[in-house]
Parts: sequence; C-alpha cells; structure tokens
Amino acid sequence: MIRIFDDPTSVAVAAAGLFAEAAAAAMQSKGSFCAALSGGSTPRRLYEELAKQPWRDQIAWEKVFLFWGDERYVAPTDPLSNQKMTHEALLDHVPIPPANLFPIPFAASAGESASLYETTLRTFFGAGPRFDLMLLGLGADGHTASLFPGTAALAETNRWVCPCRPQGTGPDRITLTFPVINRSAAILFLVTGQDKAPVIEAVLDKKNNQAALPVQQVQPVQGQITWFLDKMAAGHLSPATGN
Ligand code: 6PG
Repeated sequence: MIRIFDDPTSVAVAAAGLFAEAAAAAMQSKGSFCAALSGGSTPRRLYEELAKQPWRDQIAWEKVFLFWGDERYVAPTDPLSNQKMTHEALLDHVPIPPANLFPIPFAASAGESASLYETTLRTFFGAGPRFDLMLLGLGADGHTASLFPGTAALAETNRWVCPCRPQGTGPDRITLTFPVINRSAAILFLVTGQDKAPVIEAVLDKKNNQAALPVQQVQPVQGQITWFLDKMAAGHLSPATGN
C-alpha cells in the first residue's frame, strides 16, 4: 500500500496512528508489541509525535519492546547515534521500562556489536525473529536499514545481524539482515523529501525496470509493506499511484 501525504508532519502523524494501532492489535492478540526502529533523519518526527498526546497516554508502553533495525558504529553519546536520536525524540519522554529497550551495543568492533546483537535477538525471539512492526527508511542510493549497494550484507542468508561498511565516508554500520526483515508481520517505509523522488520512482513505478536496488530485496514472507510518502518524495510517480 502506498499513501501520499502533503508534508513530512502529516506523514509523521499518520505513522504514529499506524504504530499505535499495530501496538494495540499485537497487545490484544499476544499481550505485547515488538517493533524495530529505523534511524536517519526522517523517523525523528514520528518519534516526536509518539512522545505527545494522545499517543503518550494511549500506548501501553510497559508492553512495548523496542529494537533497532540498524546503527552507526559510534558511541551511544555520538550525534550520529540512532539510539541517541531515538532517546532524545521519544524514549526519554514516555514511560517505557528500560528493560524493554534493546539497543545495538557499541562493542570493540562493528562485527562484535553485530554478534552480540544477534545473541540478544536469539535470546528474545528463540528460533524465529518476527517483529510486529519494522520501520524502515530509504537512502537516495536505494539502501534501507544499513544494507548498502555493493556490500556483502545484501547476500547474507544465515546471520540475523551483520556489520556493513558502506562505500564512501561515514562510520561502519550494524544492520539486521534481509532474512530477519522479511519475517516481519508489517513493514512501514517512511520516505520524505525531493531528493528521494528518483529512487522512489525506481522502486515503486512499475514502468521502471532499473537494476535491483537493495530495498527491492524487502519482500516479507508473511507480512505487508506500507509506504508513507510526502508529495515531494512521490513527485516522479504517476498520478494514479497511491492513496
Ligand atoms: C540510518 C538508517 C538509514 C536511513 C536512510 C534514510 O541509520 O541512516 O537506518 O537506512 O533510513 O539512510 O535516511 P534519512 O531519513 O536521513 O534520509
């Protein structure tokens, strides 16, 4: 499903509603809600929205368990840290028990961080990881989570978490792999801004048969994908697309 909104704030408000609905449904059916959060700049508005009413009081935070889909290999105090951003925007403002938070650890290497996090996931989920909701973003190069073009992480079929060294500058990354992402019950992409219009066209415009981008490997086995876009990101899509 593709939904197109006027602006990033409308995307964030709608995403908060979807998060709260998914949480209530999971709590109804199994007593808890387990989500994987995305990083980067786009989801910050969503996290800030969830920290406000009505969501702050509406969501039973004591039954919410939060993981991260990826992280930059930096200290949790670093401005580039997804964990830090999420705490500032949401977690420091809602009554979620610290024991319900599972950030990606900053260990001696990105590889060690990945192994430790895989152990955390296996301890929590047992045989099969299944997030009730996986939040994802999209890079202009077609990466999602920290699954970047041209990296070995794209072909990972066994590990649940692996390190990734994107081409170019910037810190190493730790990312959930496609086998884990594709076991999610629901996947919500949040994509805003004009700079994302070409990649959104490449991914969502059926006419376009550009070579496979990493994001095109997101194909949930038993789950639904939803795209929330703003008009700028949807700028190159044919008018009939979405809503
Ligand atoms: C990260 C993300 C990454 C992000 C895209 C889009 O840690 O950076 O998980 O996959 O979603 O790079 O980033 P923006 O939202 O900043 O455009």
